[in-house]
Amino acid sequence: MFSERGVDCPGDLPAPSDPDLLVRVRAAKAALGDRVFVLGHHYQRDEVIQFADETGDSFKLAQRAAANPDSEFIVFCGVHFMAESADILTADSQSVVLPDMAAGCSMADMAAADQVDAAWRTLQAAGVADVTIPVTYMNSTAAIKAFTGEHGGTICTSSNAEKSLRWAFEQGEKVLFLPDQHLGRNTAVLGLGMGLDDCVVFDPHKPGGGLTAQQLRDAQVILWRGHCSVHGRFTEQSVDEIRAKVPNVNVLVHPECRHEVVLKADYVGSTEYIVKTLAAAEPGSSWAIGTELNLVRRLATTHPDKQIMFLDRTICYCSTMNRIDLPHLAWALESLAADRVVNRIVVDPQTAKWARVALDRMLALPGVGAVPTATAG
Ligand code: 13P
Ligand code: SF4
Repeated sequence: MFSERGVDCPGDLPAPSDPDLLVRVRAAKAALGDRVFVLGHHYQRDEVIQFADETGDSFKLAQRAAANPDSEFIVFCGVHFMAESADILTADSQSVVLPDMAAGCSMADMAAADQVDAAWRTLQAAGVADVTIPVTYMNSTAAIKAFTGEHGGTICTSSNAEKSLRWAFEQGEKVLFLPDQHLGRNTAVLGLGMGLDDCVVFDPHKPGGGLTAQQLRDAQVILWRGHCSVHGRFTEQSVDEIRAKVPNVNVLVHPECRHEVVLKADYVGSTEYIVKTLAAAEPGSSWAIGTELNLVRRLATTHPDKQIMFLDRTICYCSTMNRIDLPHLAWALESLAADRVVNRIVVDPQTAKWARVALDRMLALPGVGAVPTATAG
């Protein structure tokens, strides 16, 4: 797990109890001026997000990083794979900084480069590699993105997965979808109208992925056996219970949720889609949201005219997103202001070259939207 390889910050990390933290962050950011651009993912803590120059889902943040050639430093308040993508999309003269190196993603860790290479050899042995296009979720390491670029595939995010999948089926006959089986399945079935039995799950921990060559030949979408530990917690029961408790509640979930949950929801989309949907919702309407808790709490505070609640009673922060806090942000910005670049994310040039090919294919897809809504409710 990436988080286990986390790098401790040097001793000058301010104490969380430091009463001057807000003032320190404000001062360091002001001292840096236009030299720094702070990006904040929607799952970040309130204490951090207030300092973001731009907030967004992973697609929007990748776009904004790429659109900022003049900032010397991009401070990425999010997780490691997002900062890696920002480094790939920015110039060598720009430094991307992740305030806490332990901010990884358990889903991204579920597809290691050697596992994916071995899986590809399995596909070759089954005679299907030549007609298979990899589609890799943004939540993946740069090495897996590079594999994708080198094998003719594209990256996708939760806001453009359907477009990416359609593009891939124009290039080949099958898709290897990495590493989130749920986003892959939800998009194939709800977006492209495929059947559940058009998809198979490739388990990297089993010989041959746990599949026969014939199963690989018959499948249209080969889903990697990865998932999000946060969104995997929502169940059909969570949806049933909230519907019984709150009449006319709208259930809105992220497409990393399991297929059964998405089927029971009224709306499904990326974090940016969730933010926009709630902003446009009728005053007085009720919403149960199936995504990370920092975002749901912020939405409830931002829209007091709407009843906004968490889909499940289980507390559900993304622990790695939460690693970025005020002390780490203060430390990163003060270090930059003192001309010390700390926690720089650097993707090696060969990996970056092929990962960029895959990312550019995604960025070139026409239009960006949410995954289509589920039909239930
Ligand atoms: P979004 O692209 O929807 O922000 O999702 C990123 C993520 O990690 C969700 O768990
Ligand atoms: Fe990764 Fe899940 Fe956290 Fe998103 S919510 S960053 S997929 S662990």
